[in-house]
This record gives sequence, C-alpha cells and structure tokens, in this order.
Amino acid sequence: MVKIKSKWTCQQCGYEASGYLGKCPDCSSWGTLVEEVSAKDNKTASLKFDKLSDSTPLMLSEIALDENIRYKTGMAEFDNVLGGGLVKGSLVLIGGDPGIGKSTITLQSSGNLAKNGLKTLYASAEESGSQIKMRSERLGVASDNLYILTETNVEEIKKGIDEVSPQVVIIDSIQAVYSMHISSSPGSVSQVRECCSILMNLAKCKGITIIIIGHVTKDGVIAGPKVLEHMVDTVLYFEGDRYKSYRLLRTMKNRFGSTNEIGIFNMESTGLTEVKNPSELFLSERLDTVTPGSVVIAISEGARPILVEIQALVGPTSYPSPRRVATGIEYNRVLQILAVLEKRVGLNLSKQDVYINAVGGINTQEPSADLGVALAVATCARNVTVDASTVIIGEIGLSGEIRRVGNLEQKVHETKKLGFKKVIVPASNIPFKDKPEDIEIIGVSRLIEAISKSISTG
Ligand SMILES: Nc1ncnc2c1ncn2[C@@H]1O[C@H](COP(=O)(O)OP(=O)(O)OP(=O)(O)O)[C@@H](O)[C@H]1O
Ligand SMILES: [Mg+2]
Repeated sequence: MVKIKSKWTCQQCGYEASGYLGKCPDCSSWGTLVEEVSAKDNKTASLKFDKLSDSTPLMLSEIALDENIRYKTGMAEFDNVLGGGLVKGSLVLIGGDPGIGKSTITLQSSGNLAKNGLKTLYASAEESGSQIKMRSERLGVASDNLYILTETNVEEIKKGIDEVSPQVVIIDSIQAVYSMHISSSPGSVSQVRECCSILMNLAKCKGITIIIIGHVTKDGVIAGPKVLEHMVDTVLYFEGDRYKSYRLLRTMKNRFGSTNEIGIFNMESTGLTEVKNPSELFLSERLDTVTPGSVVIAISEGARPILVEIQALVGPTSYPSPRRVATGIEYNRVLQILAVLEKRVGLNLSKQDVYINAVGGINTQEPSADLGVALAVATCARNVTVDASTVIIGEIGLSGEIRRVGNLEQKVHETKKLGFKKVIVPASNIPFKDKPEDIEIIGVSRLIEAISKSISTG
C-alpha cells in the first residue's frame, strides 16, 4: 500500500518541515509554509528516470567531444542572449511578469525554428488550441513542423514528446503543469520541482532542447524554489515597462555563454521586432532645443552601451520637507548625489523639490549615471544648460571626486556613432585607448570642475 505522507513546504525557498511554522527557518519569510501531501513512494520515483549515461568513470581524454550544435531562433537578439543560439539538449528557463510577452517570444521563435526544419512542439498548459492559433495568425507563424499540444499533465506531455520526437519543446508554463505522482496543486514547490526534473531528464537523455516558461513572484524572482534555477542550464528574464513597447531579455545564468548580453525588442501588434540601435530608441523624443535639467548619459546594459536622457526638475517646495522622486534611477543613489551637490558644490536644495527621470522607462543601477544625474539637477537649479552635443559619464564619490567607470571605450564609441561631439569622462580613465576621431574627450576629477566644463555658454 502506498503510504500517504504530509509535509509543510516553504513556497519561497523549498524548505520542508514536518509541521506548520509561521516563519520559514531557512529564508525567514512569513506564512509561506503550505501543507503538501505526497502519495509517492521512493521506489517509483527513482524508476521514472532514464539513465543519463553508463555509470562507469571515464578519463577526461576518453570522453568524445560532442559537436556543439546550436539552433538559431531566427531572432538575432534572442540568439545573442543565449550565447549564439539554443544548445541541443539544453534546458532554458524564461521568467517574466504577466503579459510581458513570454508566450509571444517563444511562439515566434518556435515558428522560426520549425521553418528552419526543426520539429518543434509547443506544449501549452495555459491556453487553448484556438487561442494559440489566434496568436500565431497575428504573429504570422505557420509551419508544418510546428506541433501544438494543450495539456497540463507532464506525463501526458512526455507521451506527446515520444509520439512526435521533436528537437525543440516549449513548456508554457512550468507553474501550470503537474505530475500525477505529487498530490499538491500545480505551481506548488514540489510540483514545480518534480515537473522540472522530469523535463531535465528528457532534455539530457534524448538531446531535446526544452524552453520552460516560468512566472515571477511579486518580488520579481521566478516563482518556485531556487533549485529550479540550479537545475536548468540557462535562466533568462524577460522584462519591460508595461506601458512602453520595448522589452529586455537578460541572462541571469548561462552554462553556454556570457551573462553580459541583453536583447532588446519592440512589442508590436505583429509580434516582437528586434531593436538594433537602442540608443536611438531612448533618445528619439529628445527636444531639439536643450532645456535646463536635460542631460544625455551613457550606461551599460550587460555588455551593451546605451545612451539615455536624464531629466531633472528642481523647484521650490510647498511641503514641510521637500520631495525627492526618482524614476529609473535608484532612490538612495539620488539622495547621495544630492547630498554631495549640497556639501561639495554648495547647491542649496533643502527647500527644493527634486524630480529625476530616466527617459524611456529604462531602469539603471549603473554608477556611471551619477555625474549625469548631478549635472541634470545642477543645471536645472541654476537655469543653465549642458551643450546638446555632450554626453556625461562618471561615478561620484562622497568627497565630490569623479571615479573611474567600466566599459568606457564602448560607451564613447556609441556616443560617436550617434553624432555627439563631446564626452565628459573621469580623468582617471584617461589616457584613453582607441579614441575615436572627431570627438572631444574631456577628463574631470571633481564634481565642481565637471559642472564648469559641461555648462554650455552658447
Ligand atoms: N493585438 C495586439 N497588438 C499589440 N500587442 C499585443 C496584441 N495582443 C497582445 N499584445 C501584447 O502581447 C502581450 C501579451 O503577450 P503574451 O501572451 O505573450 O504574454 P505572456 O508573458 O505569455 O503572458 P502570461 O503571463 O499571461 O502568459 C500583451 O501584454 C501586449 O503587450
Ligand atoms: Mg503566456
């Protein structure tokens, strides 16, 4: 007889306890332990999996090197993020907010893969066949090599895979599928873990590339246990501003490539299109006449340089304590920059409200944005402007010194590409290797010096 066991599992971190606890001893979150009943006996669990390889140890030199086969998704930005395409037999997890476009990017790339002659199975546990058909009509996805399966049971999906023998499988989403061997509800930690291990076994034993879609929690991490991220080969996050059309695809972990790459897409009614030049997108609405408080900065998103406009608005406050509002720039960083401006430059902001916005909905934590933010505030407070053809790069220290930044060469080259004439950079980054022609590079070592050198006199 199968023994019924009950355990309490933390839905945040996967910690297991024999009884209810209000606070998880492992991750310290409150109220996350949920009772899960398991009707599984260990014998059947271990029998379910195929063996990965013969269990005999081999010398490293004896192991034959498999040809590194990568499938192109037909979206260069997606391929870049993956490190050059989907690796055969790999397990890729894509997480993202509701409605961000996870199903869209995967269906679009499945269409492309199928068109390239790869048998692709799109297994949806969230949508009906006709819903998927509607989306595929809208995206212009059609191929005889693309199979759709609407199924929530992972064992049935496995049967479907055996039937079709696809090279690529998409699971939409891991939180909606369940295994018969676990009696807790779909989306619970044990279900997610079990289903993922079944899929991992399939990927590794049969050499099938599997893309798993995962939901994210309100804290922005992939729902389910952290082990899910350990089990898969690549973890990608699909992000973006709900009210803007651009989307970013970032790598969190990649066993087959760098984690520095990001992909930028534009969501249109016909699907996702690639954005080849993101700086143009972020600067597209910039006014021709520069206003006080507007500054262009260069930041890095992954390994990619992007130019962004920073806007500041400074004005007398009508509140007992002045307001500080930052959109797209970390709030505490802004407070620190304002404190340095007050102490080291003598700018009095104690009775002024300060609003900062990184235009275009980008969210950056890069320290090289500091100097641009400081200059946006200083120029708005003093009603002067920074020359329209100048880009500002630099990190600010608490003593008002300008600190060295990373990836400066790429940032300067991007600046040149977009037709800017002057770049203010940290003096410690000079001498500058590989300086592009027709661009003036000015090194500054203190904040006050940066302000005097960037203010336009024209
Ligand atoms: N007709 C349309 N025109 C333009 N954009 C559309 C259209 N239909 C859908 N979209 C975009 O696609 C998004 C939904 O995409 P998709 O269903 O791929 O998201 P998802 O991440 O899979 O969502 P979920 O978490 O609900 O599964 C919408 O939020 C919207 O931005
Ligand atoms: Mg979806």
